[in-house]
Amino acid sequence: MSSRWAPKPTLEGDLVVLRPFDVADVDVMARILADPEVLRLTGSVTSTEEIHRASPLADDRTREWYASRAQVDGRLDLAVVDRASDTVVGEVVLNEFDPSSNSANFRTLMGPEGRGRGLGTEAARLILGHGFEVIGLHRIGLDVFAFNPRARHVYATVGFVVEGVKRDAFAFDGEYVDEIWMSILADEWRQHHGRPGTD
Ligand SMILES: CC(C)(COP(=O)(O)OP(=O)(O)OC[C@H]1O[C@@H](n2cnc3c(N)ncnc32)[C@H](O)[C@@H]1OP(=O)(O)O)[C@@H](O)C(=O)NCCC(=O)NCCS
Repeated sequence: MSSRWAPKPTLEGDLVVLRPFDVADVDVMARILADPEVLRLTGSVTSTEEIHRASPLADDRTREWYASRAQVDGRLDLAVVDRASDTVVGEVVLNEFDPSSNSANFRTLMGPEGRGRGLGTEAARLILGHGFEVIGLHRIGLDVFAFNPRARHVYATVGFVVEGVKRDAFAFDGEYVDEIWMSILADEWRQHHGRPGTD
């Protein structure tokens, strides 16, 4: 595994602990992935009918996915553990690493038990800090649907800025929605968080 992405860290916050996935996490992650809000807001489905068909049970593909996350190189997938209940409530991911531009993509999802209590904001800050200060990324980007004001607020809170809009780039139940592109650069992270870092 390349030294920049390994070892996979455990990151400790006040509300959450981020840690590598364990095979035992797959059943709770399968339930979270089948949550209607998660399905709709992550663009995993394009209709209400698909939401109704989603299964909360892990299939072989999901089992293999989470079993392989701790070993995979060039990306970082961490479980979000709620300190209050000591349970996995979601995930944060740095993926789509481009070595030539030293950039990666950020994505996150939290199940119903984890939402609306500050956990997602803290989890995002923790993995971004690792991305900039330990992995040494120059840029982290993301995309978010216009119909997800909560996620947009969280991303702005941790320092992402809007860089563009892909108009009508997605449709749910036949209704078009814009996709908003956001990013944060290493020196913006340093300014935002007032800590030294690497570029
Ligand atoms: C987006 C997500 C990661 C945020 O995590 P979270 O733990 O719910 O968020 P937090 O509780 O840390 O923070 C939510 C913030 O959004 C604000 N908020 C909530 N609803 C809002 C709305 N409709 N409009 C604007 N802001 C809103 C809250 O007031 C809070 O801001 P504050 O801390 O300044 O008061 C999580 O809700 C989630 O995974 N949702 C479902 C899947 C998803 O949307 N994934 C992202 C796809 S791009």
